[in-house]
Amino acid sequence: MIVTTKVQDMQTMMQQYRLEGKTIGFVPTMGYLHEGHVALIKKAREENDIVALSVFVNPLQFGPNEDFARYPRDIERDERIAKENGVDVFFCPSVEEMYPRPLSVQVVVKERVDVLCGKSRPGHFDGVATVLTKLFHIVMPTRAYFGMKDAQQVAVVDGLIRDFHFPIELVAVPTVREEDGLAKSSRNIYLSPEERKEAPALYQALQRAKQAIENGERHPETVCALVKDYIQANTSAEIDYVEIYAYPELKPLEKLRGKVIIAVAVRFANARLIDNIVMDVK
Ligand code: PAJ
Repeated sequence: MIVTTKVQDMQTMMQQYRLEGKTIGFVPTMGYLHEGHVALIKKAREENDIVALSVFVNPLQFGPNEDFARYPRDIERDERIAKENGVDVFFCPSVEEMYPRPLSVQVVVKERVDVLCGKSRPGHFDGVATVLTKLFHIVMPTRAYFGMKDAQQVAVVDGLIRDFHFPIELVAVPTVREEDGLAKSSRNIYLSPEERKEAPALYQALQRAKQAIENGERHPETVCALVKDYIQANTSAEIDYVEIYAYPELKPLEKLRGKVIIAVAVRFANARLIDNIVMDVK
């Protein structure tokens, strides 16, 4: 595995692979790798000649009161996990390397961000779209891999790739969960033992919503109320949102029909957790 921290080295290397006709699978991450990230790496490994992984905690996508400074980091462990899972190129630039001067141009996301995390984290997806635009130009991948855990991010990246004509295929990978249903996340380590016990209630609530829809419920408000009640009854978390939209457009629906996302975000004392399910409603 080649490890580099330099944009220039990375670009030269990736250009060479392209010239040799190799396909490149790219997995962008903020590190502190877990099985969710590994699922993306494995999928990229299956589908491409070269697998590139980036580890970069992107300050631009964190709000002023968010956890940029204390976001968990362990680059040596990340390197080991990447190597074990067949990554060819490991790119871990510093903040100075990625942002050597104040940006003179920034990407602004206009659709699909007025709801869910886009609403509760203003500017977050502008930061994501900006760093991904940079990373796409540095890595020049054939395919880029994203997790459905962050379904709104997938919807935003879909818009970015199409609007800016990136010749990249977006691959969305299903959410990887703990045995008790909790979606794997780098932020789960912030949970107290008590909160960790409560956290699977998010997925249980989503499963109940799915069941209700399968049993014929078609009113978004009724389904949302069911999810909220279940989370309130079973956790100490404060609910940030529980919402249902058409996916990937993220537009409200009067009656549930077609591909829909049911998404939740809650705040525990030291961690904000998100989860969602996407389902087809007949
Ligand atoms: P990060 O939170 O590190 O996640 C990197 C990728 O792993 C994302 O595509 C995310 O959806 C995926 N992922 C995380 N947990 C997962 C799980 N339990 N199952 C499946 N996939 C999972 O998302 C980011 O970083 C950043 O916003 C980034 C895209 C790197 C831009 O900075």
